[in-house]
Amino acid sequence: GAIGKDGYRHYMEKELHEHPLVIGQTLQRMIDPANRKVVLPDMPFDLATVPRAVITACGSAFYAGMVGRYWLESIARLPVDIDVASELRYRDPPLAHGSLGLLISQSGETADTLAALRTLRQNAVHILSVLNVEHSTMARESALVLGTVAGPEISVASTKAFTAQLTVLACLTIAIARARGTLDPLGEEELVAALLDLPSRAADVFAQGDAIRRMARVVAEARDVLYLGRGSMFPVALEGALKLKEISYIHAEAYAAGEMKHGPISLIDRTVPIVASAPFTPLFDKTLSNLQEAKARGGRLLVFTDTKGAERVSAIAEEMVVLPHVHDFAAPILQTIPVQMLAYEVAVMKGTDVDQPRNLAKSVTVE
Ligand code: G6P
Repeated sequence: GAIGKDGYRHYMEKELHEHPLVIGQTLQRMIDPANRKVVLPDMPFDLATVPRAVITACGSAFYAGMVGRYWLESIARLPVDIDVASELRYRDPPLAHGSLGLLISQSGETADTLAALRTLRQNAVHILSVLNVEHSTMARESALVLGTVAGPEISVASTKAFTAQLTVLACLTIAIARARGTLDPLGEEELVAALLDLPSRAADVFAQGDAIRRMARVVAEARDVLYLGRGSMFPVALEGALKLKEISYIHAEAYAAGEMKHGPISLIDRTVPIVASAPFTPLFDKTLSNLQEAKARGGRLLVFTDTKGAERVSAIAEEMVVLPHVHDFAAPILQTIPVQMLAYEVAVMKGTDVDQPRNLAKSVTVE
């Protein structure tokens, strides 16, 4: 039957509230509750010996892949190439035989991602797809599918499917790191604990609704917005900017915070709010000094942080949203939620058609 909005104003709002549930269901699928270890289905290839990974996807799924790259490189020590599918399919890159091809898609039907999958397969790359629709074309053409347990996503702009993709990629990183010998049992225990903590921490985010709406009032008045983040918070900034563009029609650009001085710093003034994702991770100090540079040029700072970063952020930010502090590994998953909520609140203030933004489609099956 038809899926209702359960009293929410839009499907997007309903789906945002499903983040805790979806992260929990996806973890249940991937972690054995008895020994708290990541368990993957039987592999048709050996994860321990893949020489490198190539990640490709479109839209939000691509940004999930970017977070996956940071994890796979730093935790599993696996070299990773990444590109949007519409570029990868025509780039004709040299591909190491037996590489791991990681395809990410909510629908499993996106034309560019499917074409990239076929190109990789022709080059003897093992295809592992992270898909929400498990009976899709990409599923049929993959050697292995890891399912995101997000349920149907109706809103054109992706929300819960994105955090579910991150959850699968986090678990996959743990499994690959174990296979490659870069993560010992204690390390695995620590990372699994960080993930298992997420559903309840994610539920805490909704208590920040008022703070997010205060930020939204600033953003809704702007014509241009600059999003900043470093490390795994850079893809979170990219996802935030994409979401804002998609549903509120406000121009937004995301930059790696350290790269701001090479260009966008010239745009900064009172009219261009800066939305930063800055939880207390090892890159917190670096991010904060970038934000100070922006503030010194008149920038208005709207900052997502956590309980450990709050005191220092409050000294410079005009508005801030304080989330629970979680392990660095889990931080991009948690910090995605308020960034998507911000875009939603801005779109509601602007009165746009949130679930069906102009010119966009849920599943883009043409090139
Ligand atoms: C469309 C949607 C995006 C989505 C992208 C990729 O552009 O509007 O929200 O991220 O397609 O879709 P997929 O189904 O491959 O994840």
